[in-house]
Amino acid sequence: MNNKTFTEKYYIDRSKGNSTKWQRGAKLNCLPMWVADMDFRPAEKVSDELNRFINKGDFGYTNLPQDYYKVFIDWHRKRNNVEYRQEWIRFSQGAVDALYQVILSLTEEGDSILINTPLYPPFKTSILKCKRRPVEVKMIENDGYFTLNYKQIEKKFKTGKIKMLMMCSPHNPVGRVFKKGELEELFELCHRYHVLICSDEVHGDIIMPDQQFIPALALKKYRNDVITITAASKTFSLAVFSHCHIIIADQRLRKKLIAYQQLNHKASVNAFNALPTYYSYMYGEEWLDALDNVVFENYNYIRKKLSTYFEMTVLEGSYLLFLKIGRYSTDYSAAKCLIEKCHILANPGEDFAKEYNGWVRLNLATSMNNIKKAVKALMKLVEDSDR
Ligand SMILES: Cc1ncc(COP(=O)(O)O)c(C=O)c1O
Repeated sequence: MNNKTFTEKYYIDRSKGNSTKWQRGAKLNCLPMWVADMDFRPAEKVSDELNRFINKGDFGYTNLPQDYYKVFIDWHRKRNNVEYRQEWIRFSQGAVDALYQVILSLTEEGDSILINTPLYPPFKTSILKCKRRPVEVKMIENDGYFTLNYKQIEKKFKTGKIKMLMMCSPHNPVGRVFKKGELEELFELCHRYHVLICSDEVHGDIIMPDQQFIPALALKKYRNDVITITAASKTFSLAVFSHCHIIIADQRLRKKLIAYQQLNHKASVNAFNALPTYYSYMYGEEWLDALDNVVFENYNYIRKKLSTYFEMTVLEGSYLLFLKIGRYSTDYSAAKCLIEKCHILANPGEDFAKEYNGWVRLNLATSMNNIKKAVKALMKLVEDSDR
């Protein structure tokens, strides 16, 4: 399916419904390019299966489909070359819920948790809300390409206070798909200093054509140090269903999570919310390959038109672009400037780390038409500032 056909078939006008993204955009008279969800509906067969379930009307207590785990495990083996086992898999109501569950069950009040910034804000918020201490290590940036600062990470580990590393892989907002060597170097440090690794991999299926995603649990040597959070919610735009997986190979860690879930009435799974994930992994592969191509085309268009004027991340994974507005912004917050001057609603860079107030995060999972509108508005910003 080429990009034009995909867009014609799957783009949805979300401006008239209750979309969080589009309602806020309308309120501010802006093209909404914030928040991480898409303007595309799921694959046809997925919608058909969901309609069939709804139309049947059997809404009593329901179990997961018998082959749910097989379908999930097969998907990750085929796409990401990782071997999960059924008994490792637990559930949560979304990925942010999973962050809280992992922190609360596997660390203690007052423990320090390391994060690499700039980073999706709920990592820091969840650490603080759970009364743990966030320790931030700035990533190293070189012309929009962000890498881990191993020296600083080890320095923090040496204090002996860090109990967990919470990472985002692929990384939101900097779009990195970490190479095997980068992960090995990081995990080796964690192993040496007895630091657990919580890897949020919800963007792991939105991978640009020349990249290969490496799930944390694929590195077998570190398997017993790892907690993986993964979902189909970003991949297939299923955020409304709040369905997510927490995968733990190590039995001792898993028992702790299960004990926490049982005590807090979180041990069961909502089978209705799991269905879109199940059908998407079964029938969504062709759709996803087409979607990844659409995102890549959108990214390449923006890079071609704007890279002379704006610094931006190298998009390896996810559909999120971190863009430096820099001198074209007259305001403290580049995002505020974009609302006022470009009528574009983006996520403020300062939400990801305060020193990034000159940056914004743009969501590229939309039609080429919308991307062109955004580029035109950003070019006007350049032209006006050069006058
Ligand atoms: C890395 C990451 N984790 C978690 C979430 C939120 O997921 P959920 O809506 O399932 O809580 C997002 C949403 O953008 C995300 O980018």
